[in-house]
Amino acid sequence: MVSLKGLLLFSASILCFLSFSSLGFASFTPIDCFLISCGGNKSIQVEDGRVFESDFGGSDVVLSTNSLITVSNNENGLFSELHNSARLFTKSSVYTISTKQIGRHWLRLHFYPVKNNKHNLKSAVFSVVANGITLLHEFSFSRLGKKEPLLKEYVIEIGGSSSSGDLVLTLSPVSGSVAFINGIEVVSMPEGQFDFSVVPIPRGPGFVVPSSVALETAYRVNMGGPKLTPRNDTLWRVWNSDHTFLVNPASARKVSTDPKSVKYPAGESVDIAPNWVYATAQEMADAKVIDQKFNITWTFPVEDGFIYFVRMHFCDFVSLSLNNLIFDVYINNQTAVESLDISTKTMALSAAYFVDFVVNMSTGSNKIFVQVGPSNLRITPSNAILNGLEIMKMSNPSSSLDGKFVGYSSNSERSNTKRHVMLVIFAILGSLAGLLLIAASCFLCFVCFRKPKMVKQKSLSWLSFPNHIGISETKISAGSFASTTPSRTLGRIFAFSEIREATKDFDESLVIGVGGFGKVYKGVLENGVMVAVKRGNSKSQQGLVEFRTEIEMLSKLRHRHLVSLIGYCEELNEMILVYEFMAGGPLRKHLYGSDFPHLSWKQRLEICIGAAKGLHYLHTGAAECIIHRDVKTTNILLDENLTAKVADFGLSKFGPALDQTHVSTAVKGSFGYLDPEYYRRQQLTEKSDVYSFGVVLMEVLCARSAINPSLPREQVNIAEWAMHWQKKGQLEHIIDPYLAGKVSIDSLRKYGETAEKCLAEYGVERPSMGDVLWNLEYVLNLQAAARQSLEDENSNAIPDIPYSIPRVESGEADEIDIVSHGESDVTTSSGVFSQIMNPKGR
Ligand SMILES: *[C@@H]1O[C@H](CO)[C@@H](O)[C@H](O)[C@H]1NC(C)=O
Ligand SMILES: *[C@@H]1O[C@H](CO)[C@@H](O)[C@H](O)[C@H]1NC(C)=O
Ligand SMILES: *[C@@H]1O[C@H](CO)[C@@H](O)[C@H](O)[C@H]1NC(C)=O
Ligand SMILES: *[C@@H]1O[C@H](CO)[C@@H](O)[C@H](O)[C@H]1NC(C)=O
Ligand SMILES: *[C@@H]1O[C@H](CO)[C@@H](O)[C@H](O)[C@H]1NC(C)=O
Repeated sequence: MVSLKGLLLFSASILCFLSFSSLGFASFTPIDCFLISCGGNKSIQVEDGRVFESDFGGSDVVLSTNSLITVSNNENGLFSELHNSARLFTKSSVYTISTKQIGRHWLRLHFYPVKNNKHNLKSAVFSVVANGITLLHEFSFSRLGKKEPLLKEYVIEIGGSSSSGDLVLTLSPVSGSVAFINGIEVVSMPEGQFDFSVVPIPRGPGFVVPSSVALETAYRVNMGGPKLTPRNDTLWRVWNSDHTFLVNPASARKVSTDPKSVKYPAGESVDIAPNWVYATAQEMADAKVIDQKFNITWTFPVEDGFIYFVRMHFCDFVSLSLNNLIFDVYINNQTAVESLDISTKTMALSAAYFVDFVVNMSTGSNKIFVQVGPSNLRITPSNAILNGLEIMKMSNPSSSLDGKFVGYSSNSERSNTKRHVMLVIFAILGSLAGLLLIAASCFLCFVCFRKPKMVKQKSLSWLSFPNHIGISETKISAGSFASTTPSRTLGRIFAFSEIREATKDFDESLVIGVGGFGKVYKGVLENGVMVAVKRGNSKSQQGLVEFRTEIEMLSKLRHRHLVSLIGYCEELNEMILVYEFMAGGPLRKHLYGSDFPHLSWKQRLEICIGAAKGLHYLHTGAAECIIHRDVKTTNILLDENLTAKVADFGLSKFGPALDQTHVSTAVKGSFGYLDPEYYRRQQLTEKSDVYSFGVVLMEVLCARSAINPSLPREQVNIAEWAMHWQKKGQLEHIIDPYLAGKVSIDSLRKYGETAEKCLAEYGVERPSMGDVLWNLEYVLNLQAAARQSLEDENSNAIPDIPYSIPRVESGEADEIDIVSHGESDVTTSSGVFSQIMNPKGR
């Protein structure tokens, strides 16, 4: 019997596999796939083709109770056969399912109150606990007011700190009642399904939800499309249609495309969501109307007091070209993504993309509002889309998904209560250990920001202070911040009167930049030194903290290729930073859009080498790794000798600890320079700077802006356009015409290769800044050598440029900064951008 059971389970796994491959995707095959029909004594094939095996006997599924009754009832032909039988318990009973794999699993429970002569299952009251997580607390079918079978779906960790390698499912009736269940599914999940960084709403630093947090699916919706059944989903999920959640159906219009045309870029997969989901969407009704002033709104009733995980799926198949669809996304009336341009993340149309958020519903509100609407960048015609949405409830600090009590307690089962109290105690001990770990790691390591490490630290902190994500992070970073203070080598402290004098009492004619932070003035100190004076206008507590941190950190950075902070002034509530003045202005101005003389190839290489040295120092030279996050040609400033210095290396780019104090910069950067991987996963590493630097290299070579919307579509994005030619080995087709005949082929090849490596899809494939630097120096040597031989025999230079791209006439309006939190970048009248000339408020 036992071996027969084993066979049956084996065949069930085969069936799982078959049903996946019938979707035609090279797709995930679960290692664990338990499909159990409770109380039935034969295997049941359900509508979607899967076969559920009976729960009698078997070695992998053990039922620890002798007080069970099986009910079978064939009179209801309305639903699946699975709902014709149930197993019924008068005492607390446990299913132990031995899984082969540890980690997150889907757990799906099927309930339908089959008719029974002795017990009314409709009014039965019982609780369900899986691996210490309360899934249902004193649940009763009658309270649902529902006639159809109930399917509950959870994500549960197996083999975590509070469980063995088994799934232990306990059903406990309240005293005098019974518990029942019709079907159980335990299926392993593709790795990393929920390991992406989530953005909290209101927006703060991203973190990864620890796998010990259980999830319960509240809604899974296919916008603008039909209900999708497990047959259409590699993970057997159900996607409902969205019309019942739309607040004003007239505001939206269904659009669809051929599911086969949906592309999955790296990092996405059909396991995240099937192409059927991405192939339909709601867009704004009258999408082509120029001035639309509304949002599409969906509402979802949820339980307050819980935190919800929200995953939004996007796929732009409505646009005809890239960078055409830019819109805002709101959750609970708060900005979730501002000016979302899916194409900058996917680099293609009809490509799948998703973003994860968490929403704390402790606000007394019991509805999640999801809205998409026109961006205030006033892109016309405006439109907005949403393709799919998943909302999942996260288990609370008491390990419950149902109710706010601490731990599980049942009136009828003392022993059970004890067991769960033990679990809770274990959990608390675990958290304390976690706390100690965090403290230790805070004080011991000031090492470079490495993603996995941050994930670990954040998840631990989240667990240890489960009540408030924000507070926990502030505490941790405050600790590490304090420990950095002893080395006090701050810049010079200026008297306010000195600053006033230097800037002629903040004379408007000396303003060289305006931004969210305030204005930047050109000034001359008493000793004749020219400076750039950045005057903050925000008197907020937040602004003050950031101002102080900036001074603290910036004054530690001294490098020939970094713009340095000379000093500051905080007299009379002023927040003033004084930087060295860079007479040459931003590199970009020397490349195009101004009257500056053309830079020679050698000068360009030297500038790139200088900037690479500055970035290399940021990444490796300081006590902590610093990620610049906004590398672009306007943030590389030149002095009067054309020495390059990197600017705008503000506080928000420091390693994880300080990053945590900052609740303001989640996604930041500039169109055209952003690391696609950082966008997709919202996980920032120093390799994101390397990507942006690759864009800078191309810009320097081609003397055009990173994004130029006025060019034909395939040329708009320089990274794409240049890579197109680099891959063909014909980069010379698009180089700055001024350089024609002046660049040696060898140096151009090496330069192209270096830029190509920087622009690699994945961070791990990109070189370090140190390698980039080495390669650029090699390019310079090649050029020097070629020059030498050119002088000798007048050969080896590129003879002619077959054709070239149109020159950019003006530097304006072709650069849009993406700034979180409603900050807006103001451009100076001269069209010059730079942090110092044009600071952003943070
Ligand atoms: C199992 O099914 C058979 C018919 O296939 C039925 O005769 C038998 O009573 C069932 N046993 C139980 C325990 O339900
Ligand atoms: C579900 O998938 C099947 C093929 O597997 C397809 O024929 C059907 O149209 C799909 N249904 C929906 C609603 O997408
Ligand atoms: C969002 O705004 C709408 C309309 O102003 C309001 O009805 C709703 O309660 C708000 N929702 C939240 C979560 O604040
Ligand atoms: C869209 O909704 C957000 C948040 O509720 C609101 O701030 C914004 O003004 C709305 N946009 C339009 C155009 O109504
Ligand atoms: C959620 O918000 C409530 C009220 O603002 C707060 O008390 C609670 O700590 C928050 N929970 C988390 C995990 O942030």
